[in-house]
Amino acid sequence: MKKFQVIFQPTGRRGEVEEGKTVLEASRELGAEIESLCGGEKTCGKCRVKLLEGELSPFTWEEAKFIEDKEKAQGYRLSCAAHILGDVSLSLPEESKVQKQRISKEIAENTIPLRPAITSCSVELIPPTLNDPLGDFDRLKNTLLDKYRLSSLNIDYPALLKLSRSLRMNGWKANIALWMDKEILDIKPSKADDLYGLAIDVGTTTVAGYLCNLRNGKILAMQSIMNPQISYGEDVMSRINYTMAHPDGLEVLQRSIMGGLNQLIKTLSENCHLLSEDILELTVVGNTTMHHLLLGINPQYLGVAPFPPAIHHSIDVKARDLGLKVHPSANVHVLPIEAGFVGADNVGVLIAQEPYNQDEMVLIIDVGTNGELVMGNRKKLISSSCATGPALEGAHIKFGMRAAPGAIERIQIDPETNEVRFKVIGNDGWNAELPNPKAMGICGSGIIDGIAELYRTGLIDKGGRLNRENQSPRLKTTNGILEFVIAWKEETAIGKEITISQQDVRNAQLAKAALYAGAKLMMRRLGIEKLDEVILAGAFGSYIDPEKAMILGMFPDCDLKNVYAIGNAAGDGARIALLNRDKRAEANEIARKVEYIELTIEGNFQKEFIEAMHIPHMHDPFPHLKGIVKDEILSQ
Ligand code: FES
Repeated sequence: MKKFQVIFQPTGRRGEVEEGKTVLEASRELGAEIESLCGGEKTCGKCRVKLLEGELSPFTWEEAKFIEDKEKAQGYRLSCAAHILGDVSLSLPEESKVQKQRISKEIAENTIPLRPAITSCSVELIPPTLNDPLGDFDRLKNTLLDKYRLSSLNIDYPALLKLSRSLRMNGWKANIALWMDKEILDIKPSKADDLYGLAIDVGTTTVAGYLCNLRNGKILAMQSIMNPQISYGEDVMSRINYTMAHPDGLEVLQRSIMGGLNQLIKTLSENCHLLSEDILELTVVGNTTMHHLLLGINPQYLGVAPFPPAIHHSIDVKARDLGLKVHPSANVHVLPIEAGFVGADNVGVLIAQEPYNQDEMVLIIDVGTNGELVMGNRKKLISSSCATGPALEGAHIKFGMRAAPGAIERIQIDPETNEVRFKVIGNDGWNAELPNPKAMGICGSGIIDGIAELYRTGLIDKGGRLNRENQSPRLKTTNGILEFVIAWKEETAIGKEITISQQDVRNAQLAKAALYAGAKLMMRRLGIEKLDEVILAGAFGSYIDPEKAMILGMFPDCDLKNVYAIGNAAGDGARIALLNRDKRAEANEIARKVEYIELTIEGNFQKEFIEAMHIPHMHDPFPHLKGIVKDEILSQ
């Protein structure tokens, strides 16, 4: 196979790549990290590169959807559609570089009763004699039975390998690390070392880790990384598709997440001056696809109706079997799964929020690439999921991007002048207060803010249509599509205006309508007319402005005092399960009890969905928006 030299500018990353590979594939091989929200499906348009020199395959019709004639003439291409046919030099525009997502994994101040799976006990053994030549492990077992009433003990193989020497080196005294009171994981010198565990939330976009001291429950360090699988697709379906389209796809994706986790483990332990081998226990939450990919389970059946997962119950697996570089005997506890699209992350949210212990009727929305909904109280809990699509995370939005530095995250529009104020991640103030706000795109919370503001100020109507009659200089038409300018060219770092287009509004409406329709059908299932509380969870959730989310109609009317964004409750759930083994049993029980509803087969879904496309809704009243949105606008 012929190979060609490929160079990515401005970083100068270079190397040889086989003829015929796409530029996107080449970038993965050479570590150039091009944004690929759709995973190379040619549908997001985010992977643009500019050909500086050399030869690529002919321009395709898929590319024409995202690249205007003028840009085509300048050499712009979609990296997933252009194949390498010779030596090439390519330039990576700022907006096509993978941006490190801002991490919003906050920790609720819960006090978790301490009962970790890992405990330690100190022992002193009577050394063997000719009259008492009992084997070392049996001798240890007898001592643990006598002193701690521990019976039926096993010993993990690496611990067995060091047992005899450790006992003799330390004068037959030892500190034994035990897992669930049934397996010996380590034999240490007889001083009471601290014990360490790691809780991990594997999200489709970000992976968060909390390194904890298991003796006092304290978080020693927390860190998040981008899920490295992101270069194989932004959402769960594109990752499932990747495993189906490539013979080694599952292996590649599993290796990729393990690489990320090992990097996370290394950073966290170094930050605390520990060795990664000090970590004896891990708990993991993640959506069902992340769960399967992490465990190396083929996820392909999750992608087709009736979407069954391979397993519901929690599982325990040795970290070494997964390739995790922690203590050789460490255990990984993966929380249970509710359904094909409601995973262990949702179970984590449940054990953190405990809606099953409250009387108020609560709706918990985990706003992610896939929306997960839970509704109910102590009497009954139901869950469902809906394909919100990636619009609320910035994909399928003309200037959409992740919540990374440069992203517009807050938007306000003056109802009189239609002038815009915006805030960019990484800047302290609003645009007007800064010489150059350097906006690069709009992230999900910015989209929600922007569309809610366009509606509140009458620039779009209830149906989401931009008002053509408006005389604002910010309203313009590009290629026949109306758009509203959020940031002028000189306020951006991409050399052009950043707008919200009619198509963007439509895509966000599709996403929010799925959430609203889901919530409505769940309310009907439960026979309730109103919600007492709405909780917006997820890394994304902590940045959504609850008021703007309600103006947009992401969920039914609720007293805004009782609408909260709570940050990463799934990560809290992983930490709770790390620190309290009883919560693991509770998680299994709850995962079984929550009734899953497949929304798409509910008879009324289409009707509810269409009605929910309106902002905030076609006819549902929103009494709690009175005074926030003018009556004449609400009653359109
Ligand atoms: S269009 Fe190329 S990765 Fe999405």
